[in-house]
Amino acid sequence: MSLHRSSVALVALLAMSVVLGSPRCTASTDVHKPIVARVRKDASTSLYTIAIKVGGVPLLLDLAGPLLWLANCPSPHRTFPCDTGVCKIASWNHPPNCPHMPATACSKGAACTAYPYNPVDGRCGHDDATTITLAANATEGKNPLFPVSFRAVGSCAPGELLASLPPGTAGVAGLSRLPLSLPWQVGYRLDVPKQFALCLPGGSGSDGVAVFGGGPFQLLAAPPVELAAGLRENQLPILRNPKTNNGAYYFRITGIAVNQEKVPTPPGAFDLDPRRGTGGAVFSTVTPYTALRPDIYRPLHDAFDAATSGIARAPPLAPFDMCYQASALGVTRLGYAVANIDLMLEGGRNWTLSGGSSLVQVDDHTVCFAIVEMGVSMPAAANSPAVIVGGFQMEERLLMFDLEKGTFGFSGPLSGIRTGCGNFNFTRGPE
Ligand SMILES: *[C@@H]1O[C@H](CO)[C@@H](O)[C@H](O)[C@H]1NC(C)=O
Ligand SMILES: *[C@@H]1O[C@H](CO)[C@@H](O)[C@H](O)[C@H]1NC(C)=O
Ligand SMILES: *[C@@H]1O[C@H](CO)[C@@H](O)[C@H](O)[C@H]1NC(C)=O
Repeated sequence: MSLHRSSVALVALLAMSVVLGSPRCTASTDVHKPIVARVRKDASTSLYTIAIKVGGVPLLLDLAGPLLWLANCPSPHRTFPCDTGVCKIASWNHPPNCPHMPATACSKGAACTAYPYNPVDGRCGHDDATTITLAANATEGKNPLFPVSFRAVGSCAPGELLASLPPGTAGVAGLSRLPLSLPWQVGYRLDVPKQFALCLPGGSGSDGVAVFGGGPFQLLAAPPVELAAGLRENQLPILRNPKTNNGAYYFRITGIAVNQEKVPTPPGAFDLDPRRGTGGAVFSTVTPYTALRPDIYRPLHDAFDAATSGIARAPPLAPFDMCYQASALGVTRLGYAVANIDLMLEGGRNWTLSGGSSLVQVDDHTVCFAIVEMGVSMPAAANSPAVIVGGFQMEERLLMFDLEKGTFGFSGPLSGIRTGCGNFNFTRGPE
């Protein structure tokens, strides 16, 4: 951790204790326990929401988001003066290409402005920084135990910022590595480790789950299975993009293989360019399908095309450019029976995409290659990563992020151990 980052964290801590009081005396209970929240997939947008507000009102889950924001704050609502430490942090997080006021524009006594951002359509806004009351249940990793509510620093937002988010969503919950993100504030408020486990649901009918604050993570199976301990032993480093410093979860990919054979990609294709802030691999829950830069997409497409040449094709359906007749595909516990794709990571580890993660059923008769080319179906941003691992490829596995150590862990497809993200036991357990 650089001097700069640790001092940011320290300033954030001091500033938040001024605004919210010391963590223990204002939380609803003396918690010291992780909390659990439901995660849902919205059928119309393929985006994920998290129920972390009073009344279960969903917020968009944005893994790379810096901030919590709510549209249409009640008036009056709490504001902070713009010359406070907490305002410095809140207004730090101005998204790229969004207009913002320089900190020097603060006139004594004026309210602090924050910069909420819609990560789906890129819309920018500005509104008051405020406090937001969050609600969830404490957990020991197996069941919800008792309700917990606490205040966090966030932002109000103009109502039009909700456009393109799932219907019924009240705002956005950012889960990034920056000091005003949800995992950071849960850690600070409830005095638990700044870690979280995320299990995104594959179907829009079933619930997934997120646990903030460390601890075990158990899913129902026969018998129930605890996954956190194993994942903690097998972490890989999270990389920081030193140019954008945007708090997104970057990691290192060294190559891609299809059917155990390395796909020919240009030398250095996966590298993060620290000077320009481009390249590298990053996780995104607001990108429905993994997107690859064309110089990586084309050779992967061709290798997968060759490895599946015996399977009857169907006409392509946008945004996908390679589709198959559903009736021509066999199915196993890990999804369609096709060649595996390995995203090769550090230390010889692989993030393996079996048929359940590389192919998606788009209608009764058609199944498509669920990876897209950047710049064709989605704009290639100026500071584009080489690989954006999207929601579909993260679903039905457990992911764990440790913000203090700067590491992440991941499981294989949960169907391989006969369970799934819908199998957290949401029945209240004995306290
Ligand atoms: C806490 O868990 C109970 C039991 O599952 C549930 O009814 C309640 O809605 C949860 N509360 C919150 C704030 O999530
Ligand atoms: C990772 O994938 C590569 C390419 O398919 C393969 O050669 C290697 O054996 C795999 N490593 C492990 C640990 O499975
Ligand atoms: C879910 O948790 C409750 C409370 O601990 C327990 O009584 C119940 O047996 C669990 N359900 C299953 C299917 O194990």
